[in-house]
Amino acid sequence: MPETTKYVLTEAEMPAHWVNVLPSLKEPMDPPLHPATMKPLTPDDLAPIFPMGLIEQEMSMQPEIDIPGEVIDILKLWRPTPLYRARRLEQALDTPAHIYYKYEGVSPAGSHKPNTAVAQAYYNKKAGIRRLATETGAGQWGSALALATRLFGLECTVYMVKVSYHQKPYRRLMINTWGGEIYPSPSDRTQSGRAILEQDPDSPGSLGIAISEAVEDAATHPDTNYSLGSVLNHVCLHQTVIGLEAKKQMALAGEEPDVVIGCFGGGSNFAGIALPYLLDRFNGSPVRLLAAEPEACPSLTRGRFDYDYGDTAGLTPLLKMYTLGHKFVPPRIHAGGLRYHGAAPLCSHLLRHGWLEAKAFPQLAVFDAALQFAQTEGIIPAPESAHAIRAAVDEALAAREEGRKRVILFNLSGHGHFDMSAYENYLAGKLENFGYQPVDEEG
Ligand SMILES: Cc1ncc(COP(=O)(O)O)c(C=O)c1O
Repeated sequence: MPETTKYVLTEAEMPAHWVNVLPSLKEPMDPPLHPATMKPLTPDDLAPIFPMGLIEQEMSMQPEIDIPGEVIDILKLWRPTPLYRARRLEQALDTPAHIYYKYEGVSPAGSHKPNTAVAQAYYNKKAGIRRLATETGAGQWGSALALATRLFGLECTVYMVKVSYHQKPYRRLMINTWGGEIYPSPSDRTQSGRAILEQDPDSPGSLGIAISEAVEDAATHPDTNYSLGSVLNHVCLHQTVIGLEAKKQMALAGEEPDVVIGCFGGGSNFAGIALPYLLDRFNGSPVRLLAAEPEACPSLTRGRFDYDYGDTAGLTPLLKMYTLGHKFVPPRIHAGGLRYHGAAPLCSHLLRHGWLEAKAFPQLAVFDAALQFAQTEGIIPAPESAHAIRAAVDEALAAREEGRKRVILFNLSGHGHFDMSAYENYLAGKLENFGYQPVDEEG
C-alpha cells in the first residue's frame, strides 16, 4: 500500500465544540486577583474590556462549549488543517521515531491565531462593540485579529512591538490590507507608552508594554474592547480545535503520540494541541506534553510561579503564573511571538503540578532545526514554531540513541514567509544566541 503523507478531514468532521479542561483539573487553580483590591476577580471586573460571552468562557465549568455556527462558517475557510507525517525529516534524522505535525500555517494569516480571533470578534460583535484594540509581537496575532474583525465588520487597532514593526514590515501591511490601523509600541498614543518612551526613547518594546497600551486604549473608550491573542483561558479554549482535529487524524494514522509538543509564547498553540491530550493523561495515558520556549525568554523553565501582572504598566489583573517579572524586556530574538514575560495561568498550573514538561532552546539551534525542516519537508516555519521543531528533532534523536520507536506529534503553529529577514541573518551567519538576563526587580 502507498504510504500516506497527509491526513485530512472533511469539513463535516470539524469539531462542533471546544474542549474546556477547567472542570477536569485535579488540583484547584489560584484565581486571578483584582489589582486594586487584591480580591479574586469577578465577571463584572472584566466587563469594561471584554464581552460577557468571553468572560463566561474564561470561568466556565462546562466540559464542552458549542462553537457558534457563524464562527464555524468562517473557520471552514481553512479548517480542518492537515496533519502530516514528516517522513523525509525522519529519513534525514535516520530515526525509528514517527514524527507527525499539525500544520496551522494554512490559515489566511498564516498561523493558529485566527482560531481565537474569529471567536473573539464574534462575541464582541454580538455585544455591540465597534472596535477592538490589541497588541502584537511578530504581527501574527495582529494580522489574525485584523482579518477576523474585518469579517465581522468591526474596526481594529493594533499596537505592534517596535522591534518587530521594523523587522517585519509585511505583517504590518497585512494588517492595513485587512483594514486595521497599526502603531509601533511604545507609542505616544497612551499614558503607558509615553511613560516608557520618557525612560528609554529607543525602547525595542515588548509584548508586556504593547498589552498595556491596548488595555488602556480599550479602558478609555466605551465602544472599544480589548482582545488578547494568548494567555487567557478562553484563548486556550478556542485553540483546542487543533488538538481535537489532531486526535481524529492520529486515529486515521493508527497511532497514539508518546509526546505532544508545541512552542510556547503565552501558551495558546501549545494548549490547543495539548489540552485534548491532557484529558487522556488524567485518565491514565502516559502521553507526555512538552512546551518549547526560547532560552532568551524562559518563563516556564526559569521563571517563578507567582502572582504577576500580564502587562508592563500593571494595568491587568494579577495572574498566578510562571513569570520573569512584568518589567522584563526580552532580548531581540526573531521569534517575536515568544517574547512574553509570563505564561498562561492554566499551563503554568499544569506545569507546577507535573502534568506538563518544558524545555528552553537557544536561537541558533532552533534555526538549525528550521532549516533542516524546510529542506526536508518543504515548509519554511515561523521562528516561533521552529522551537517545536527543535524539540521534536531532539525527541527523534533520543529515540535513535535508544534504538526505539517513539511517536512524536508537534504543532507547526505558522509559516515564516514574513520572517525571511531572520533567515537572511541566519544564512549570513549573523544570528546570535541570547542568554537570559534576569530583570533587576528593584530597578
Ligand atoms: C506562529 C506563532 N507561533 C506561536 C506563537 C506564540 O504564541 P502562543 O504561545 O500563544 O501560541 C506566536 C505568537 O505570536 C506565533 O505567531
